[in-house]
Amino acid sequence: MNESFSVNREGHLTIGGADTVALAREYGTPLYVMDEGMIRDNCRRYRRAIDEFYGGRGIAAYASKAFSCKEIYRIVQQEGMGVDVVSEGELYTSLLAGFPADKIFFHGNNKSEGELQFAIRQRVGYIVVDNLRELHTLEHLLEREGQEMKILLRVKPGVDAHTHQFIRTGQIDSKFGFALETGEALAAARECAALRRARLVGLHCHIGSQIFEVEPFCLAARRLIGLMGQIRRECGLEMKLLNLGGGFGIKYTEEDDPVPYERFMERVSLAIHEEAAAEGLPVPYVVLEPGRSIVGRAGITLYTVGARKEIPGVRTYLSVDGGMTDNPRYALYQSKYEAIVANRAGEPKTETVTIAGRCCESGDLLAEGAKVQPCSPGDILAVLSTGAYNYSMASNYNRVPRPAVVMVKDGKSRVVVRRESLDDLVRNDL
Ligand code: LLP
Repeated sequence: MNESFSVNREGHLTIGGADTVALAREYGTPLYVMDEGMIRDNCRRYRRAIDEFYGGRGIAAYASKAFSCKEIYRIVQQEGMGVDVVSEGELYTSLLAGFPADKIFFHGNNKSEGELQFAIRQRVGYIVVDNLRELHTLEHLLEREGQEMKILLRVKPGVDAHTHQFIRTGQIDSKFGFALETGEALAAARECAALRRARLVGLHCHIGSQIFEVEPFCLAARRLIGLMGQIRRECGLEMKLLNLGGGFGIKYTEEDDPVPYERFMERVSLAIHEEAAAEGLPVPYVVLEPGRSIVGRAGITLYTVGARKEIPGVRTYLSVDGGMTDNPRYALYQSKYEAIVANRAGEPKTETVTIAGRCCESGDLLAEGAKVQPCSPGDILAVLSTGAYNYSMASNYNRVPRPAVVMVKDGKSRVVVRRESLDDLVRNDL
């Protein structure tokens, strides 16, 4: 389990000091519950590592695609972080929450003109440019608005991160960014040198997500610094910022064994210092974009168990009142999750079950071969480590309303996203 959990005298699972069975009773299920203390701790670990290994010259920009709502932007702002946004919607939410625009990195492989214009008018700190069309549209819009903008180029460093192919992004065959080895990235930098309004201040890469190895990050950092040296020699541009993206893996089940962040940060920083020295460049200002490692383990989802179907010699299905609509990750990536019967958390796990969702879809599963405590209809099932890419990827398939999100701190809970109502579902229908 993880540091935020325990089992109380009633044998109930607690998170951040709050009884999950009581939470389910108070707010209903399905319910996302997040431990605010753990989120803040994770932010602080990144900050401390940046202080220790880069003398404070860097920032962690929370990748808000992992979990986006107004409250998370307030929390990460209080923790001194930047944020990464990938759409006008995330940008809008962050600004509405009062997040300072100058600490926002705006990403996307196909930003629309409207989105770029919105970002310019809101004076977003950095735009991470993905392609030449975007670069020229941006320059044109900046000219029209009479503004300047700091930009980074998104580079595909040609590094293979060993993770699921759908969440791997750093290799040549990727829709994101400019390839390094074909000279495409250098050519883009050359174009930047001729621009008056878009000012190239750094390079960005993101090699994938849920990565456990440190070496691909080191290699990507070295390659990008090498490219910075080349850009300085050939285009006369000095860049001061290196953004290495996110991707640091977390523990979902016993099989996962991530390196502690501090060790990961230390090793990457050594590679950066060495390579900068070799290129005769100053050590760049380092930006990291952690998403999953900030919120993933801090969240759980509570469900009420309904139908139970034992198919002799085949398997036992436990159906819950949510599923792929609140967590599509098993259906998409066969992601593994651990589950606990929250009202019997102190008992041994003696059952092996398939946890099924409520949608009209056979693939609507949350876990197969999951070990759980003995479980019957009416029990509360907690699926763990659902804080990242669950609420943010939720849908209304089958017209199922999205669950509420509750934040827990020191045993107290508060709703940060209301449960969708039936009226919310038909709000835009004519
Ligand atoms: N920066 C960039 C440019 C990214 O594209 C991403 C994730 C991140 C940072 C944050 O990566 P993280 O630290 O969270 O691994 N839906 C998938 C994950 C997609 C990740 C997309 N980009 C999943 O559920 O596993």
